[in-house]
Amino acid sequence: MQKTKSGLDTSQFIQDITEGLGNKIKNIQSKYLYDHIGSQLFEQICLQPEYYLTRTEASVLTKYSTDIINLTERRLNIIELGSGSSTKTKILLQSLIKDHDELYYFPIDVSHTILHDSIRKLSSDFLNLHIIGISSDYTIGLKKAAEFINEQYHVPDRKLVLFLGSSIGNFEPVEAISFLQMVRDRLDKNDMFLVGFDLKKNQEILNRAYNDKAGITARFNLNLLARINREIGGEFDLESFNHHAYYDENLGRVEMHLVSKRDQDVYIKGGNKTFSFKENESIHTENSYKYDLKQIYDLASDSGFEVRQNFLDERGWFTLTVLSPM
Ligand code: AVJ
Repeated sequence: MQKTKSGLDTSQFIQDITEGLGNKIKNIQSKYLYDHIGSQLFEQICLQPEYYLTRTEASVLTKYSTDIINLTERRLNIIELGSGSSTKTKILLQSLIKDHDELYYFPIDVSHTILHDSIRKLSSDFLNLHIIGISSDYTIGLKKAAEFINEQYHVPDRKLVLFLGSSIGNFEPVEAISFLQMVRDRLDKNDMFLVGFDLKKNQEILNRAYNDKAGITARFNLNLLARINREIGGEFDLESFNHHAYYDENLGRVEMHLVSKRDQDVYIKGGNKTFSFKENESIHTENSYKYDLKQIYDLASDSGFEVRQNFLDERGWFTLTVLSPM
């Protein structure tokens, strides 16, 4: 089967794109934002002054990593879902490695190039860290990591699973429940799950975070069309679409769209189909749900977890929430 650079197979990509653009309300799944270029652009978004999420989460980790670790068993394995560049995880690993002579870290990411890069960097930074990278989706990756841990008798069997960066916000609320249930099913009673949630806040702050002045988020969004052009012979003119992102207070989410500047037809060779766009018609490309603490408690109890502790920054913009199986 032919694979794209990011490891996804081309026919699946064509099918998903033609299906999404064939809908009455056009959409593209947000997972397709993260090809090699998109992932690099996302790393740049994290450095933008308006995008407070990464910096805030890192500050919470810096301040509370010892407290978080003290909630866990002494000998444990770290499994990270969607590890990306592992930058923030380093903060936690730094604290952990102090009282572990050996530590196992299982980064799981769909992008094997990013996984490869971050493993190389981490292994030179942490000499007694065993890194077992798993290039796959969360479900399969978590299963593989759990199997590895159970089968190796010398490996401690406690697990701390990480899901950082407010990636949970990409799920629809019902999907978030089934995702947490899936994780719950792979955990034992004394394991823990650490999840980063971006909290509801003033909408101007949210709107600014997704509309940075330097235009990186716009490039990140438009890269979806560039990717379709590169990988499946799309003929999108990137100049003919605008980046549009805004917080919808009723739905409690930031929506990201690509809006057609004019009436236009776009051919995609790989799917042998032409798609028509009206002026101002949009392609919905991402949802980023914002939570409050009540919703986090409900989500936990709906999926077999209990909230052990919430670690918030001083402004109350972001929480790292420690969940334990019920
Ligand atoms: C990686 C999904 C957490 O929703 O804030 C950043 C992705 N989109 N800017 C987010 C994103 C636009 C990000 N997540």
